[in-house]
Amino acid sequence: MADSIRILMCAPDHYDVDYVINPWMEGNIHKSSRERAVEQWRKLYYVIKERAMVELVEPAKGWPDMVFTANAGLVLGSNVVLSRFFHKERQGEEPYFKAWFEGNGFTVYELPPDLPFEGAGDALFDREGRWLWAGYGFRSELDSHPYIAEWLDTEVVSLRLIDERFYHLDTCFCPLSGGYLLYYPPAFDSYSNRLIEMRIPAAKRIIVAEPDAVKFACNAVNINQTVIMNQVSQDLKDRLGAAGFEVVETPLSEFLKAGGAAKCLTLRVTEPILETVHANVSIESRVVRMEGHLLDAGLLNQALDLIVENSGSFRVMNFNLGVERNSTSSAEVRVSAPSHEIMEEIMTLLIDLGAVPPPQEVCDINTEVVSQAGVAPDDFYVSTIYPTEVRVDCEWVRVQNQRMDAAIVVAQGEAGPTAECKLLRDLQVGDRVMVGVDGIRTIKKVDSHEGARKENKEFAFMASGVSSERRVELLVEQVAWEMRQIRDQGGKIVVTAGPVVIHTGGAQHLSHLIREGYVRALLGGNAIAVHDMEQALMGTSLGVDMQRGIPVRGGHRHHLKVINQIRRLGGIQAAVEQGFLTQGVMYECVKNEVPYCLAGSIRDDGPLPDTEMDLIKAQSRYSELIQGADMILMLSSMLHSIGVGNMTPAGVKMVCVDINPAVVTKLSDRGSVESVGVVTDVGLFLSLLVQQLQRLTSPYQMTV
Ligand code: ARG
Repeated sequence: MADSIRILMCAPDHYDVDYVINPWMEGNIHKSSRERAVEQWRKLYYVIKERAMVELVEPAKGWPDMVFTANAGLVLGSNVVLSRFFHKERQGEEPYFKAWFEGNGFTVYELPPDLPFEGAGDALFDREGRWLWAGYGFRSELDSHPYIAEWLDTEVVSLRLIDERFYHLDTCFCPLSGGYLLYYPPAFDSYSNRLIEMRIPAAKRIIVAEPDAVKFACNAVNINQTVIMNQVSQDLKDRLGAAGFEVVETPLSEFLKAGGAAKCLTLRVTEPILETVHANVSIESRVVRMEGHLLDAGLLNQALDLIVENSGSFRVMNFNLGVERNSTSSAEVRVSAPSHEIMEEIMTLLIDLGAVPPPQEVCDINTEVVSQAGVAPDDFYVSTIYPTEVRVDCEWVRVQNQRMDAAIVVAQGEAGPTAECKLLRDLQVGDRVMVGVDGIRTIKKVDSHEGARKENKEFAFMASGVSSERRVELLVEQVAWEMRQIRDQGGKIVVTAGPVVIHTGGAQHLSHLIREGYVRALLGGNAIAVHDMEQALMGTSLGVDMQRGIPVRGGHRHHLKVINQIRRLGGIQAAVEQGFLTQGVMYECVKNEVPYCLAGSIRDDGPLPDTEMDLIKAQSRYSELIQGADMILMLSSMLHSIGVGNMTPAGVKMVCVDINPAVVTKLSDRGSVESVGVVTDVGLFLSLLVQQLQRLTSPYQMTV
């Protein structure tokens, strides 16, 4: 039976380390001993010869790596896909291998010229023949996999390699008889590891630890129950033994210097065909177009990095460089992904970066009709904060009510097609909801070189973390200036605030802002109102005397008394009208007709009659109140600020102030350029802000 297994090898007559094309070769140029290499190669040859038939291909002078016949091509039955080497240092081997295959009756398939694929070094059959594992990331291109699937009529499972030491699949992955797998998981990205785990049950996974992996333990030749490899640890040998394998060690140190070992030195040319297995690839590719300041704004880099980081692959097909300072560039990028799922993920991210389908390619987005109220179709497109357009009847239609985490519903209106963001709970039976990611674009407003630069600068500024005191002052100056502009031009500033505003002594400053017409709506919870009124009525906030900063006896009951009194009067408005409440944030809101919404929560005491305990109603009210906002000042409330962030479209300036950097980061992470995070005490911030606004208002008092 073993005789039916044929293995191709190539004697090391011209073997040497002549160049560096993988990390193992570094520092090893001409450091390997020809004599020892020959001896080690012979040993391997005889070990294999005892168990299979060995064929030889004539070594060619000038092609030192030709000993690694695993890279000649990939054989199945009488077909072979010839390798297309990634590095020019090895491309010269191709014709020699091709001649050998043709001379031995194989049908040779050749990939398009610049589509690298390094044969059985990067493609290994499951030993039961059920499918082909194919690697990509360093030497072979993902786009070669569909060709292989078709030519060899097999299923291809693509695995992404991420550790350059393990640049070929066979350096870290070795399928064994009986459905076992010997491999080194850290060499693969997480999606690939998931694929492996889905196909190979835990009991059949033999995991190699790093010390063995770097000795090329996975680069083993498996012939039935025998595993031939370079020297490895006793532990690994024991584990292989327990799985029923006989381990034959043979030294291959000279070949390790070139980044290869036992398996690399062999190519199995008898791979039986399973009748039941047929071509199947889950790889998808699509072309997207990007336009804008691709280089100066770093957009193209971001896009390409994102594709690779998410297990995809790309090819830039056309690139038109804008040469003038203000001209834009455009590129068409072909994106490939190992599965539909990953493609959609990558596309979603690219769309957020502004990628669009090539012109005319998509005339209509895909939609599905809602069949259960409040439930979207599975594959619904999840909206973002960015202004978005979708293709309907070959036209771009602007999406209304832009917000994140909603579904996009398209309809036929009087004046043509319409599109809007709708929350899941608002979906009605019959609504047509966009699914998938085809035919959508987001509009980023970076429209000049300077704009691009500025955008990057702000990002960097925000990313730099905790603000120093001076930075806080600078930010306050900037925020004050903008608030002043917005107010004077009839714009809208909305404030969300938590009770910490009151505890830190900010009530008087926030009251001032309301009085001066800076605040057009106030959003918060039960607590801010309770503690504000507690301070207004009893001089304490959560029982702490606000003048002296010490707890007052019985103070912990103050807020309940306040709640009780307001309840008796019928609400905040009534309390003001009846002259009971005469100062503070809530008082100013009533007096200045600033609408507010207090959204309830599980921990509310009372609640106040004004607190909306129906959260769906509260969410809708919040979203009404932020309509048309130019700026949202978020003051120390994680709950309400993030809630508001979720319903705010891009383009609204958000200033988030919190002593907890996590809250600030969370909001700045929207990726929206307009957000500014300030990590500081909110009472202090408000006091500085009011000072600054007063300075702006009375220029003659300006101090240095
Ligand atoms: N020096 C060769 C290269 O970098 C080593 C090839 C090892 N072959 C393999 N199937 N892993 O291409």
